Parts: sequence; structure tokens; C-alpha cells
Amino acid sequence: MAPSTTSPSSPTVNSAPSSPIDVKHPHLILRPATIPERHYSWVINNSSWRGVLSENAYYLREAHLSSQDLTRNGGIVFWVLVDPAAPCKPSCPQTPDHILSACETIRKPCLIARSNGEVEDVISWGIGGVYTSEQHRGKGYARTMMQLLGHQLKDFPDQTDTKKTPLRVGFSVLYSDIGKQFYKKVGWQPHESSHISFPSQLPSSVSASSVAAKVKKIAKGDLKALCAVDCAHIRRYITKTPFKPGIKARCVQLPVAEVMDWHHAREEFIGEYVTGKAPTVKGAWVPITQTAEYPPREGSEGLDSAWVIWTHDFAEKKLLFLRLHVPPVTSANKDAVSAALRALVVAAAEESQAWGFNEIISWNPDDLTEEAVKSVVGEESYDLVHREKDSIASLMWYHREGGGEEVEPEGIEWMFNEKSGWC
Ligand SMILES: CC(C)(COP(=O)(O)OP(=O)(O)OC[C@H]1O[C@@H](n2cnc3c(N)ncnc32)[C@H](O)[C@@H]1OP(=O)(O)O)[C@@H](O)C(=O)NCCC(=O)NCCS
Repeated sequence: MAPSTTSPSSPTVNSAPSSPIDVKHPHLILRPATIPERHYSWVINNSSWRGVLSENAYYLREAHLSSQDLTRNGGIVFWVLVDPAAPCKPSCPQTPDHILSACETIRKPCLIARSNGEVEDVISWGIGGVYTSEQHRGKGYARTMMQLLGHQLKDFPDQTDTKKTPLRVGFSVLYSDIGKQFYKKVGWQPHESSHISFPSQLPSSVSASSVAAKVKKIAKGDLKALCAVDCAHIRRYITKTPFKPGIKARCVQLPVAEVMDWHHAREEFIGEYVTGKAPTVKGAWVPITQTAEYPPREGSEGLDSAWVIWTHDFAEKKLLFLRLHVPPVTSANKDAVSAALRALVVAAAEESQAWGFNEIISWNPDDLTEEAVKSVVGEESYDLVHREKDSIASLMWYHREGGGEEVEPEGIEWMFNEKSGWC
């Protein structure tokens, strides 16, 4: 089965980088995978990552995820570490043995705001699927691959829109499932990786019907408007909010509709496979003023409402918040924002229960969100977890020409670091 992506089928970068990076295997090269090699990467890693899917369903899902708006036309790049001098076996290229290590990268629109007032639109590459097959492990291949990748991504051409001037690559990110050290040693600095977890089962004293009238269920068709308004809010927020001492730059992966659609393509595929149904409710919206409109008007910043966009995790039976939009809190709106957050917590619990899930997760919650969860579920019933092993949000910063004053991680604030950024 060939993946249905439209990325180039032959490698465009096929020589080792000229920079003097000190890798264990300097003779190896990292290059974009050919179409058969992409499929071989899935063959190699399926036993680890197919989860509740059969092997064939896993291949279909990966191909499906590679052909979304976010990923088609060069938005996803599959990488393989290979020995260019390795003799070709008679069966070559039908066997995947020549793939020493593999991974994929997804292009995301991002912003960098600097303490001197500058704002720069950039892209980041989100790295996922880092994998070495068992027979090749422990030989330094993954480390070599990551060292080459970190270096090559900085100048990797953005091929998604050839009509526009390509944006600079501002940084790359990954979410480590093997703790903080491995990727830190090769340049990706771990950042805040916490989440709040609360149960779907609410205390009997909480009445879902008391908030139901205010809450609007978010449908797929409304995501574009909500995300555009949210991105406008974020763009203003990261420039206008005072910088903490020592912070030189802020970065954010924008929660655009294409990113949400990619997560939802994943949940819909797995939902259909596991339950025969795809979730249609993509989140919940609550007004905080009498005049708030749903969906919010184009050009507004969503300051009169709060909403959550979520995704369903059928393997773990959890509802995951992809993005929680909370307007800036002032003394005038604090009570209304808190009430809206409580209503969103109740709406999430209802959705989670409807699918028979037990738990709801929100990444890097702020104090007001934690307060809202606590006041709905009770002090004893939620956990604030600082992850040490799984999904460690890690970032490699790429300085501009002539830049260099921004130091990772102390001088860089990764804002709105929520589940939507994961890949
Ligand atoms: C993790 C993985 C990619 C490492 O590949 P590899 O080619 O064997 O890695 P290298 O030989 O370059 O480096 C080995 C290092 O990885 C570390 N490592 C391997 N598996 C690890 C794990 N589960 N947790 C923490 N560290 C791990 C080793 O301790 C070693 O560190 P050291 O060099 O400081 O002693 C490989 O074990 C794998 O594919 N695992 C299954 C998929 C996976 O977990 N991928 C990572 C997702 S974030």
C-alpha cells in the first residue's frame, strides 16, 4: 500500500551536511525517505505504535494522517538514516534493513515575539516517530540521526507554498517519551511538561443541566472561525503582555484549524475502527458576556468567551484538551471567566462519559483553570502531574543570522504549550 501523500518520492537532500558536527557515525547520512521507505518505517515501528489498531489499519492511518491539509504538499517529511555505501542486497529496495533509524517531521506555523517588541512569523518542525529497529539499537544510530536532523532542519526548505517567500525555521520541537536526558544531550531542551487530570464522573452535587443552556457544542465546521480568532488573540497577547525578567523571546506554535483537523483525523480514524463511530463534538464554548456571539466574529479576539477544543483518545480512554482558550483575566471579568471555565469542565466530563472514558487531561493549566477543576470535582479528585518520562515538551532554538542573544531554555518562554502542539 502506497501512502497517499504528494511529497516528492525521491530524496532532495542526499549528502551529509557540511558542518562539523561531532557524530558517532560520520559516514552515515540522513535524508528524506522515498515512498517505499516511508512504508517500511511503519513496518518497522508498527508493533510499538499501532496501539489498538491492526497492522494494516495502522498503515492506513499513517497514510491518512500524511494527506491532511497540515501534512500534504511537503507539510510532513519522513527521514531515514542510512549508510550511502552499504551494498545493495538482491532484494533491495524491498527490505527495510538499510534503514538504521527513522523519524518524521511536521511543519507548523509559529510566532516568535521578542522583548524588544519585534514579532516574527516562522515555522517550526515538530518531530515524531523516532525509531530504531531492534537489531540496530544501542549503536548510536538514533543519536546520530537526531544530531544530523537538528542541524538539517534549521535550513530545510519550506515546500508547502512555492508562491510565497518561505518562512525561516525558528525552532524545532519534540515530545520525548524516554525522559529528559536523551534529547537534551543532542540539543532539545526540556520545558514545562505538566498536566491536570480529573475524572469524568462528577460529584453528585454538580448539576450538568445548570450549565447546559450556556454551553455550545463545537462542531467541526466551526473550528476554522474559532482557531482564527484564537490565533489573533495569541498574536496580540504574546506581544502586549510584559516579559518576565531574563526572558528575551517567546515562541508559540499557533493552534490553527489545520493542526486541530490533523488531531481530529486521528481520533476519527481510531474511533471508527474501535467503536464504529467518529466523534462529532470537537469541544465546548461558553460566553462570558451577554453579547458574546457563536462562532466568534472574524477579526475579533474571542475576549468575550472561553472554549476548549478537545480530542478523544480511544486507546487510553481519555478526553484530551488540545487548546483551552481563556481571555485575559481582569478584576472586572474574573468571576465570569471562572464560571465559564467551570462550565467547560462540566461539558468535558459529560463528553468523556458519553464515550465511556474515565479521565480528562489538560496540559500546562494556569491557576484559574486549576481552581475551576478543583471547585467542580473537589480537592481530592484531581491531580496536577509534572511529567518526568512521557511527552516531555522539548525545544531546539534556531538563531537568526546575527542573532544569538537568546539562550535556551532560560531566555525562551514557550507559551500556550498545550496538547495541540504534540505530534
Ligand atoms: C529510543 C530509541 C530510538 C533509541 O535508539 P538507539 O539507536 O538504540 O539509540 P542510540 O544507540 O543512539 O542511543 C542509545 C541511548 O538511548 C537511550 N535510551 C534508549 N531507550 C531508552 C528509553 N526507553 N528510555 C531512556 N533512554 C533510552 C539509551 O540509554 C542510550 O543512552 P546513552 O547513550 O546515554 O547510554 C530506540 O530504543 C527505539 O526505537 N525505541 C522504541 C521507540 C521509542 O521509544 N522512541 C522514542 C520516542 S520519543
